[in-house]
Amino acid sequence: MRLPESPSLADYRRHIERLAADGLAALGDAAGLDALEAARVEFLGDRRGQLLEFQRALGALARDDKPEAGKLFNTVKRQLEAALAERRDQLGRAAGAYRRPADLTMPARPQWRGAKHPVTLVIEEIAAIFRELGFTVALGPEAESEWYNFGALNFPADHPAMDMHDTLYLRDDVLLRTHTSPVQVRTLQRYAPPVRILAPGNVYRRDFFDASHAPMFAQIEGLCIDEGVSFVDLKATLGHFAQRFFGAARARFRPSFFPFTEPSAEMDIECQLCHGAGCPACKGTGWMEILGSGMVHPAVLEAAGIDSEKYTGWAFGMGPARIAQQRYGVGDIRVFYDSDVRFLEQIAE
Ligand code: PHE
Repeated sequence: MRLPESPSLADYRRHIERLAADGLAALGDAAGLDALEAARVEFLGDRRGQLLEFQRALGALARDDKPEAGKLFNTVKRQLEAALAERRDQLGRAAGAYRRPADLTMPARPQWRGAKHPVTLVIEEIAAIFRELGFTVALGPEAESEWYNFGALNFPADHPAMDMHDTLYLRDDVLLRTHTSPVQVRTLQRYAPPVRILAPGNVYRRDFFDASHAPMFAQIEGLCIDEGVSFVDLKATLGHFAQRFFGAARARFRPSFFPFTEPSAEMDIECQLCHGAGCPACKGTGWMEILGSGMVHPAVLEAAGIDSEKYTGWAFGMGPARIAQQRYGVGDIRVFYDSDVRFLEQIAE
C-alpha cells in the first residue's frame, strides 16, 4: 500500500499509522542484534527507510495540513527510535554487553571458607580404616527409649546410670542417649548376621564437665557379629586400628566392665601429648583411654532377637574427641565443642 502522489491528510494519517504499527512490531520482536539492525534500516534508514517517504510527502501536502502531518511524523519517528533503543538495550543486556568490566586493582574481599571440624576429620579417618575391614556405617537416633539405651543392653533396672543425675531425660521414657551402644541393638534387629558396622554419633551425659569430659560428645560404636567370632578377633582388629591410626605409639588393653559385654576391656594409647611422661591431659598416667570394648553379652544378642548359641561377636565404643585431642595435641577437650573459629581454623584442612 503506497502513499498516493498528492495525499490528503487522511491518507497520510492512515499510511503512517500503518507504518508505525509495522515498524514497532518489527523492532520490538527482533530476535537478535542483526535482525534489529535490519529492521532499523528498513524503517529508519537514511537511504531507503520507509519513514523517508513520509518526510518527503510532507512537502506535497496542502499547506493547512502540514502542521498536523508534521506532528504525526515526529511522533511516529520518536516512537520508532524509542522502540529501537529499548530493544537494543534488552538484547545487549542479555548478551552481557553492558556488564561493567572488572577492576582488577580492587582489593579482594576476604572470604570465609568452611572446613571440616577436627572431630569429623577423625571420624572420617577411623571410618576409612574400618571400611577396609568390611565395616559399613550405621546410624541411630539421639533421642532414645530407656529400653534401647539401657534395658536391651543388659543394664539392671536400678542401674545408677539411669539416674537423673547422669542421664538427660526429654520425657518419661525418652532420653538423650548416653552412648552409641543402642545402635548395636537397632542394627541387629534389622539385619541378620554377619554384621559389621560402625556407628558414629553424638551422645549426652549430664554430670561430666572438665578438661577431659563434655556434656555432649561424639562416640563411634563398632559391632562385629558372626559365627565363631572370638576375643582374638577383637584384640587383633583394635590393635590393627591403633597401629594404623597412631603408628608406632604403644597401646594396651585393660580389663574393664560394661553390662553389655563380657569379658570387657578398655584400650589405652600412650599419651601423645607427653609421650608417656605424664601430663594434665592424661592426668599424669602417661596413658589415654580411647575406647571401651568387649564380647557382646548373650543377653544383648537375645534382646535383639539373635540366637546367642549360634552367633558371637564383639563391640567397642570410641571417643573421637579424645582421639582428636591426641592427634592434634590439644590439652583441653572442651575446645572441640566451643565452636571458637580461632581454634578450629588452626586444625581445619
Ligand atoms: N558404650 C560404652 C561407653 O559409652 C562403650 C562400649 C561400647 C563398651 C561397646 C563396650 C562395647 O562407655
